[in-house]
Amino acid sequence: MKRVFSGVQPTGNIHLGNYLGALRQFVELQEENECVYCIVDEHAITVPQDPKELKKHILDVAALYLAVGVDPKKSIVFVQSQVSGHAELGWILNCCANTGELFRMTQFKAKSAGKESVGAGLLTYPVLMAADILLYDTDIVPVGNDQKQHIELTRDLAIRVNSKYGETFVVPDGRFLKSGARVMSLDDPTSKMSKSAPNEHSRISLLDEPGKIKKSIMKATTDSEGIIKFDIDNKPGVSNLLSIYNALSGKSIEELEKFYEGQGYGNLKKDLVEVVTEAMAPIQERYKDIRESSELIDILNDGAERANAIAEKTMKRVRERFGLGL
Ligand code: TYM
Repeated sequence: MKRVFSGVQPTGNIHLGNYLGALRQFVELQEENECVYCIVDEHAITVPQDPKELKKHILDVAALYLAVGVDPKKSIVFVQSQVSGHAELGWILNCCANTGELFRMTQFKAKSAGKESVGAGLLTYPVLMAADILLYDTDIVPVGNDQKQHIELTRDLAIRVNSKYGETFVVPDGRFLKSGARVMSLDDPTSKMSKSAPNEHSRISLLDEPGKIKKSIMKATTDSEGIIKFDIDNKPGVSNLLSIYNALSGKSIEELEKFYEGQGYGNLKKDLVEVVTEAMAPIQERYKDIRESSELIDILNDGAERANAIAEKTMKRVRERFGLGL
């Protein structure tokens, strides 16, 4: 059995990109692997958070994990800050990473652009992500394309430590889907769909009501050509809608292009509204029950205990290799 690890930040607005790029994979992988799924609250505080909101969002994301189909009987589901090994290994790996490679991370460049000063955590964030992954002897990391560079850094750090201190870490592989690995923003299809974009119609959140889903899709930016064809460079808006349609319905892009030949964007959008609304409905229904259930906390506490047992084994090995402690 392979070990799978992944995480999502509890920062609200979990959207279709998170679902199609990552969460969908979580469910698929749990059938044949030993999966560990984390709500990465320590990552969330790399930018300022309202403590009350953060606490709420942790439970929101946990409930969403379960609502999309993560099964706590098959997978470990837990909150990062409940397992202290993440922060400890994060520090140790910080001492193995170079500032140059961290300054080169595209996400750091994007998030720090134009700011006079940013928190040091924003720079060292990818090292904490590496710690998350390496702590569990992870083989596979299911994520969206935007995490590719972070996975590369994780691999580099694992290889670096292994060659300096002897075999310590499993070198993990990222797992990226062909369709859904990079869902684009609906209002600006040249940038990725994100939780933090100011325009709420740039994304579809998993808990959006049908009316909001309809409005966001019908407003989505396309082009003036009126031809339904997949062409990311010249038709990013239409291509994004086709990708979402393909990922949720299983209908191939060619099939969709053929079906909509000669039709306008209005029809494609109307049908996509239906496809998205239908896909979200069962998730939203389950979410309500799970979020209100007192079982959720028990599941997370049990998950933390199981995660901690794995993490402690790794930490013992790491402390030993580095010569830490007595
Ligand atoms: P986060 O919380 O930004 O996103 C969670 C997951 O959703 C994917 N994703 C997308 N996929 C497709 N299209 C998009 N527009 C889109 N936006 C986001 C992300 O790739 C991710 O898989 N650093 C991570 C969280 C993290 C983590 C980890 C992940 C911390 N430690 C260890 C894996 C393993 C992040 O900020 O994801």
